[in-house]
Amino acid sequence: MDKIVVHGGRKLTGSVRIGGAKNAALPILVSSLLTDGWCTYHNVPNLRDIESIKQLLIHLGAEVETHDHTIRINAAGLANHEAPYDLVRKMRASILVLCPLVARLKKARVSLPGGCAIGARPINFHLKGLTLLGAEIDLEHGYVNASAEKLLGNEIYFDIPSVTGTENLLMAAVLAEGITILRNAAREPEVVALIDVLNQMGAKIEGAGTSILTVQGVKTLQPVSVSIIPDRIETGTFMVAAALTNGNIQIQGGEPEHVTGIIHKLRQTGADVSIEGKTIYVKGSETIQSIDIKTLPYPGFPTDMQAQFMVLMSVAGGLSIISETIFENRFIHVSELKRLGADITISGNTAMIKGVPSLSGAPVMATDLRASASLILAGLIAKGTTEVNRIYHLDRGYEAIEKKFQKLGADIERIQ
Ligand code: EPU
Repeated sequence: MDKIVVHGGRKLTGSVRIGGAKNAALPILVSSLLTDGWCTYHNVPNLRDIESIKQLLIHLGAEVETHDHTIRINAAGLANHEAPYDLVRKMRASILVLCPLVARLKKARVSLPGGCAIGARPINFHLKGLTLLGAEIDLEHGYVNASAEKLLGNEIYFDIPSVTGTENLLMAAVLAEGITILRNAAREPEVVALIDVLNQMGAKIEGAGTSILTVQGVKTLQPVSVSIIPDRIETGTFMVAAALTNGNIQIQGGEPEHVTGIIHKLRQTGADVSIEGKTIYVKGSETIQSIDIKTLPYPGFPTDMQAQFMVLMSVAGGLSIISETIFENRFIHVSELKRLGADITISGNTAMIKGVPSLSGAPVMATDLRASASLILAGLIAKGTTEVNRIYHLDRGYEAIEKKFQKLGADIERIQ
């Protein structure tokens, strides 16, 4: 398996271009299942998770064409209602096909995704919501079987705002009869992006970006041609890299509006962040100040940036507290960061980080997507050589990250 080798100590300078958002692209590609013709998507990142969802859509009967960062999908031939274990286990987001399959084929059989490294990650909200829309659901032999002669609008309340839960249920509600109201819905930019696409297809959804979404069901939806929004987590990862290495970089092609929380926290650490149009400039400072962070649903601080900020806090002056409120086990990077010399103590969902003057390179193991990114960031400032092994996860969510860091002056390479 490939590994990434980083020789730390270089300041990053120059400019980097951000790609399309993985977590926006996944539900949007799936939404093609709701239409009967060729949909065209531009700015789709070239990632392992995108490959997995393409394989699943092809398995279900869709035609898929890929040309560079453009993907065309035609679900006119949608015939298969089963998403098998082998395809779903590769990527939890595969559960997103559940509601579109029931809306189009009146039935679905989707493997239960199971837990993952960062937590149990149940799908009870998806199932409860679909039941409220009129589906019958049973679980057997590790599969969700769902069927509905017709879906009927209803009120659905999320105990916790769920990103893919909101996206999945929207894709049922758009073709349900009558009005559906989703309360305490997720407000993430990726959810808003899906709503924009569904509305362009002819859906009638109001309230995008708020926690109350009102959906007036329609009979059919039309194919669209759209561009995927920029990845706010890739943007944030490069912002932290600049601050960490006391560098000076320009980030192009991002959406500054989607990273306001990250910008505010980064400024508190002493970094100089400015915005001109869509370009974000980040200049590090000689000393990094410690800050406290609590992860929350959007517009709060994103859990997907928690590991990267922890690296920054590892070399800050003073004590930082990071509270992870979204996933119960999202500190798996801590033991690896400690191997590089970080001083971190975990108690429940809280990590206490005592800044140290420097980290020192060592071989480390990547265990989930954002943890992998944090280990590369740590390698950028660690003394000596850091070898990040098992980078399978990294390729799920960052396109050619080592090439982008090389362009900014980092001493980093992928070894096959
Ligand atoms: N939850 C439930 N029941 C459910 C659904 C969620 O209890 O049926 C809980 C979860 O366990 C969690 C909270 O609700 O405690 C929020 O989870 P959410 O459903 O919002 O997470 P997700 O939709 O599974 C997406 C992203 C994640 C990101 C989270 C939080 C995609 C494909 N994935 O996951 O992205 O961390 O939202 O923002 O959109 C990543 O890209 O590295 C990643 C993990």
